[in-house]
Amino acid sequence: MTALKNTAIRLAALLILQTPWLETSHSQVPANPAFSEEISKQESIYQSKGEQVPEGYSIDRSLADYTHALPSEFDSALAKLGPQERWLDIGAGTGQAILDYYTPDYDLTHREGWERRGRKAQAVAISIEDRRTPRWLQDAASLGAGKIEYLFNRRLREYSLDELGQFQVITDVIGGFSYTDDLSQFVEKVLGFLDLYGSFFTLLQDVRSEDGTNRPHYAGAPFLTEIANAEGSEVRVCAWLKSITCVQVSCEFKASWKPPIEIFRIRKVCNDVAVPALVPLHYVAGTPPERRFQLRNPTPASPGRTSATP
Ligand SMILES: C[S@@+](CC[C@H](N)C(=O)[O-])C[C@H]1O[C@@H](n2cnc3c(N)ncnc32)[C@H](O)[C@@H]1O
Repeated sequence: MTALKNTAIRLAALLILQTPWLETSHSQVPANPAFSEEISKQESIYQSKGEQVPEGYSIDRSLADYTHALPSEFDSALAKLGPQERWLDIGAGTGQAILDYYTPDYDLTHREGWERRGRKAQAVAISIEDRRTPRWLQDAASLGAGKIEYLFNRRLREYSLDELGQFQVITDVIGGFSYTDDLSQFVEKVLGFLDLYGSFFTLLQDVRSEDGTNRPHYAGAPFLTEIANAEGSEVRVCAWLKSITCVQVSCEFKASWKPPIEIFRIRKVCNDVAVPALVPLHYVAGTPPERRFQLRNPTPASPGRTSATP
């Protein structure tokens, strides 16, 4: 089945199945897509304004939406952050989740950690395009210098550790983790920005679950994010994340979501992080894009499979 046909199926299903929260549609997909052409189409989605913004490109999810979607530990990890600690939201859109964190309502509903939190953690939003609203500008001015920051015009991979520093909590809700064309470099950067014992909370739509029992959400279409090993066999995203050194990973599949999502908590437990490198094989622009990656290096043979050496 061609990519074009897949997209037609996805779009048809989208009309019936899409909830206001989720997004799975593709922009225009050529029959024989060239990688760079798809990247430039993706760029025009990022830069879209007003009525040009594709229907599936959700940019203003609330903190309640984040809490509902992400692993349950996210809510308390954020509530426990003190005023000297930091939260990075990658792919923040309008930054609504950060604005919600700074409301009095947040404190009323998060009594635990209130005293410790005090004036709250510093929060940094990153987005490729500038989606700041008048409310963001107003809140940023009234909260005082550096309390909330909105960085744009660059992808995560273009920031250095010196520029951004480290964070105790990092989130990505259908941001760079779902959109990047270089997944291993993206995760490597995230883990570099994560403080020791800090956690990265994120999710992916329509992927093979850890236990491998689900099929792609749209019949005839591939999963939205796929990984193969160097020999071409499937590697589940959760298994790839668990193969990273110095992290503890938990994966939870939410089959009842439409499309289903897999949610991840990645906790950094030592500093010698090594992320198995992936090569991008396939990228079709969309909201989010359809991506396939392959492990650069062959899977090390297990002791049982190698011939014995003296
Ligand atoms: C669909 S919006 C999601 C916005 C927000 N998280 C929400 O749920 O409402 C995607 C966001 O991810 C950002 N993004 C995509 N790839 C990125 C990358 N590699 N680095 C930083 N931001 C990225 C886009 O610029 C945009 O802000």
